[in-house]
Amino acid sequence: MNLIDGKKISLEIQEEIAKEVKDLLSKGHKKPHLAAVLVGNDGGSETYVASKIKACEKVGFKSTLIRHPEYVTEEKLLQTVRQLNEDKDVDGFIVQLPLPRHINEQKVLESILPSKDVDGFHPINVGRMVLNLPCYVSATPYGIVQLLGKYKIETSGKRCVVIGRSHIVGSPMSILLAKNTALGNATVTLCHSKTEDLKSHTTQADIIICALGSPEFLKADMVKEGAVVIDVGTTRVASTETKSGFKLKGDVKFDEVAPKCSYITPVPGGVGPMTIASLLKNTLLAAKKEIYP
Ligand code: GUN
Repeated sequence: MNLIDGKKISLEIQEEIAKEVKDLLSKGHKKPHLAAVLVGNDGGSETYVASKIKACEKVGFKSTLIRHPEYVTEEKLLQTVRQLNEDKDVDGFIVQLPLPRHINEQKVLESILPSKDVDGFHPINVGRMVLNLPCYVSATPYGIVQLLGKYKIETSGKRCVVIGRSHIVGSPMSILLAKNTALGNATVTLCHSKTEDLKSHTTQADIIICALGSPEFLKADMVKEGAVVIDVGTTRVASTETKSGFKLKGDVKFDEVAPKCSYITPVPGGVGPMTIASLLKNTLLAAKKEIYP
């Protein structure tokens, strides 16, 4: 069994980005600038946004955090998005999800300028991704594809099962893996809550991407010997073992699944850090105006 070290690969990508930033600055370019909008005080979202901001500092980006309380109105949030769309200094920005229930998430995402949508959630970027046109690919699936590439894991012709059809991970992941590209060409099955006999699919899979958000869902008897398992789950569960009082649990029952795998990602330290590396990559593309000149 080989552990896929997302933290290490993420740091390598961040070093490459930091070099590019230095290069840009030496040519008189301004610092790439990422803004993040955080609504409320959800513990998970706070942690993710703090990691994104910290990573920006590390690679030499400028970052701005805009906070709104849980009770912010939809109109006020849309106003913030409009301001960021117009702000010439901001290259790209994200609105951290989930948003409170009284806010129409889709409306907010669609109000972001596609050229600044470094999360790749806008329908224009999703559509361009499907059509193989230049776009921002959403950070988590993009990070997973890069991980598979870095570890030279063959996807072409392989049976790949994606569990979970979220707009953020499962759905774009299934599309990327099926594309006629170097890190695609897999035969993809997208499984979800209505899938019958899930095990009959997963036990056939060469690669399983588990992205349903249910702690320790994937058990050893659902995985074939030698499979590659990518765990996207990051559920916070209470724990007496950590200072913070919680720990992150993946969607895979790691201890029993890992011995059967050729490769597996841990949680934490697998997919999570790659999401951040991809977001930084997209922001650099935005600063260089490579996708939307
Ligand atoms: N919530 C969970 N993952 C993400 C992400 O990649 N981007 C944003 N904006 N919100 C998220």
